[in-house]
Order: sequence, then structure tokens, then C-alpha cells
Amino acid sequence: MSHAGTGTENSGASARIQSSVVDKRAGRSLSGPGIHAVVDDFVHGRVPGYQMAAWLATVACRGLDRTELAALTEAYVAGGERLRLERVGGVVLDKHSTGGVGDKLSLIVVPIVAACDVAVVKMSGRGLGHAGGTVDKLESIPGLRLGLAPEEMYPVVRRVGMTIVSQSAALAPGDDATYALRDVTGTVESIPLIAASIISKKVAVGADGLVLDVKTGTGALIPDHAMATRLAETMLQLAGDFGLRCRGALTDMSQPLGHAVGNALEIKEVLAVLRGEQVPGVWEACLVLARLMLQSADPALTDAEADAKAEKAVASGAAYDRFLAWISAQGGDRRVLEQPALLPGSRHVLPITADRPGWVRTVDPRKVGMAAVHVKAGRLSHSAPLDHGSGVVVARRVGDRVEVGETLAELHYNDGDAGLATRLLTQAFDIDDERPAPPPVIHRVFDSPVR
Ligand code: URA
Repeated sequence: MSHAGTGTENSGASARIQSSVVDKRAGRSLSGPGIHAVVDDFVHGRVPGYQMAAWLATVACRGLDRTELAALTEAYVAGGERLRLERVGGVVLDKHSTGGVGDKLSLIVVPIVAACDVAVVKMSGRGLGHAGGTVDKLESIPGLRLGLAPEEMYPVVRRVGMTIVSQSAALAPGDDATYALRDVTGTVESIPLIAASIISKKVAVGADGLVLDVKTGTGALIPDHAMATRLAETMLQLAGDFGLRCRGALTDMSQPLGHAVGNALEIKEVLAVLRGEQVPGVWEACLVLARLMLQSADPALTDAEADAKAEKAVASGAAYDRFLAWISAQGGDRRVLEQPALLPGSRHVLPITADRPGWVRTVDPRKVGMAAVHVKAGRLSHSAPLDHGSGVVVARRVGDRVEVGETLAELHYNDGDAGLATRLLTQAFDIDDERPAPPPVIHRVFDSPVR
């Protein structure tokens, strides 16, 4: 398979994509077969990247209607693998987050739901730029295998009720090929392109229910509230068009989630929450997402009943045990989870302190995320190496009171540009004389259009 413009381009395909660009630019609807041909031609190297980039940019500018969006989603999945979750038995759910800074919610919610005897299969990605990725966080755990083939996943889910694996390019080849191009052509932040990209992978997984966590706020993929709402609604409708029951929440990313930002630091926070620590911002969001998942498996559950189940799964230790059992099932060394001090750490910890008294008005998640990148907890290019022990611990949240000299955040580092990271962290905090209202953790919950 080739999609970089390797000389196998052909003139018929080239003419097809040109006329598709012209039609879209002129506001005409594209046919389903036309969209399929464009994606298929690119995936098979019959059109070069620059033509596909023009097509994606035109779609990003002009949008897609509902029929076109479903056709693009189908085209992304075409020719790819599909999971066979009937081999797991029973209801199997999937969860997706559009990501952000300190977003470790999946690692808490999935074992909670599994401990309530509802199976979960989740494919996760790596981080890029200011936002972290679940796969990077999990790779802090020695021995843990995330690149499982489907045949290896089914027995793990049958045994421990959950699996988290790295995203397979084989599931939605059209998305895989075009995503790399979007990444370098400024066409990631497009509602139809994001929706088709995410939902195509969910269609290929084929779970019985999907819960979407769409972030809004300065650290989110789509920061603007109205646009993020539109993204959530578009994805719900698109999932429904494929018969996929999907519920979702619009959750806050106007400040980092919880305290820990960085790979092993976040794993430690996950373990703390699974042991019952109610980390502000994290626990409330986990409870709502677990509720939506439990209700997807059993629509008769009231909110109070679902919350009671999730709370019991944590209080009884069942969710924590489930997480450890899953880590062992995929080859991870559970001793490092039982003794988190064995996880990767940092040689240096630098406190960032308040230079005036007041109330924390802003903790800019992009600046915090970029501070973490500059000490190698995240990456700016796909091939950049990571330091799993570095990152940031955010000590104060919006609405907290601080006095001069009190710690706002800590920079944990071994390597990288600690000076730049420190400057970014200092700029991330805005302290005011008036106490601001903290933002809600959950802005809105969305129901499935499919009953
Ligand atoms: N995540 C995806 O999988 N696709 C996008 O387009 C954006 C985020």
C-alpha cells in the first residue's frame, strides 16, 4: 500500500480527484461512489499527497452533508479489518475521548465498568503536541503489551473483562492514510473530518455501545464550546447512521484534568483514584462517563443506581483489582503498580510558586501541556522519544486561593528545556483579586439518536 505519491499515480484517478475538488469548492454535493474512489485512489497510491491535501482542505472549508459524511466514514473503513466482538460474548462497550491535558479518564473508567461486569474494548492512540496519549501513559509500565492482534484481544477480554490496545492502522486504512496528511496540512481541526476519522474506527471495532467524551475549552482539540457541541452532535448522528448506539458528554478542558500531566505521573494518579482518592475534576468526570457506559449496557439503570455501582466498584477495591489483573493479562509488571515508586521518575523537581496572593483565575492547559512537552513528557513529532518519568504536577485549580510563595505547580524533569518549561508554567497561571466561579466538569450529556 502506498499513499505518498510514489510514481504509481494514474491520470484517471488524478482527473477524478480534481473534479471532486472543483465540485466541492463550487458547493455541489459529492456522490458516495465519488468519495469512495477518492479515498481508495489515495490509499492505493494512485493519487499523490498534494492532490489529497487539496481535497481534504476543500472539505475542511466547505463541509460535508450527512450523506457525504457517512460515505467518507464508510470509505475510511473499506478494505480494513473488523473486530469480531461476538467472540467475546455478551455486551461489549467502547469509549473514546477527543483528548486533552492530563486526560487519564479512560484508564479509570474502563476498569470501573469492567468491575461492574460490563466488558470494554478500547483502542487508544499516542499523544502529539500539547495533548497526551493513553498509549504513551501505559508504556510507562514495564512489559505491558499494547500492540495485540485481535485474536489475542478476545481471550484477554473474556478473562478480565477489558482490554486497551494501541490503534491498529488495519482497522480504517483510509483514516490512517489521510490522518498523517491532515496532521501536516492544517486539516485536523475540521468537524466532518474529525467525525469521519473517529467514527470510522468505532464502526470497525463494532461494539454494542459507544461513549464519547468530547472536550471543550482551551486545551481541547476543538476549543470553542459551540463548535465542540457541534462535533459531539455530528459524531452521535454519524454513529447512529451506522446503527451504533452512542451516548456522550461534553467535558471541560479549560484547565488540566486533575493534578498529573505526564506519563508515569498520570499512571500514579490513576492508581490513586482507583484506590478511592477523589481527585478534583477527575472523579466527577469518571463517575458521569462510567454512568453513561453502565446505562448503555443496561438502559433501565437510573443515574443513582449506575453511580452506586461505580462507587462500589471503587470502594470495594474491585476496579483497582481489575486494572491490575488486566495489566498482568497483557504482560505488564504489576509490582510497579503495587509499589508506584518503581515507575519511571525524575531526578529533578522544580516548584513554580505564586508571586502574589489571590484566586487562581486561569490554568492554561495548552501552556501546561507544552511545558510537559519541553521536558519530553510529550512530543512535537511522531518519532520524538519520550521520557516517561517527566511531566507536571498541577497543585492549584481554578477557584483555589493562593498566598505568596505557595506552590502552583511542580516541574518533574530529567532532560529537555526546563527553563522554557518553567516559563510556560509561570505564564499558565493567572491570579486575580476576585474569586472566579470554577468551570463545570461536565457541560452537557448527549443521548443516542438510536434507540
Ligand atoms: N482523533 C482522531 O482519531 N481523528 C481525528 O481526526 C482527530 C482526533
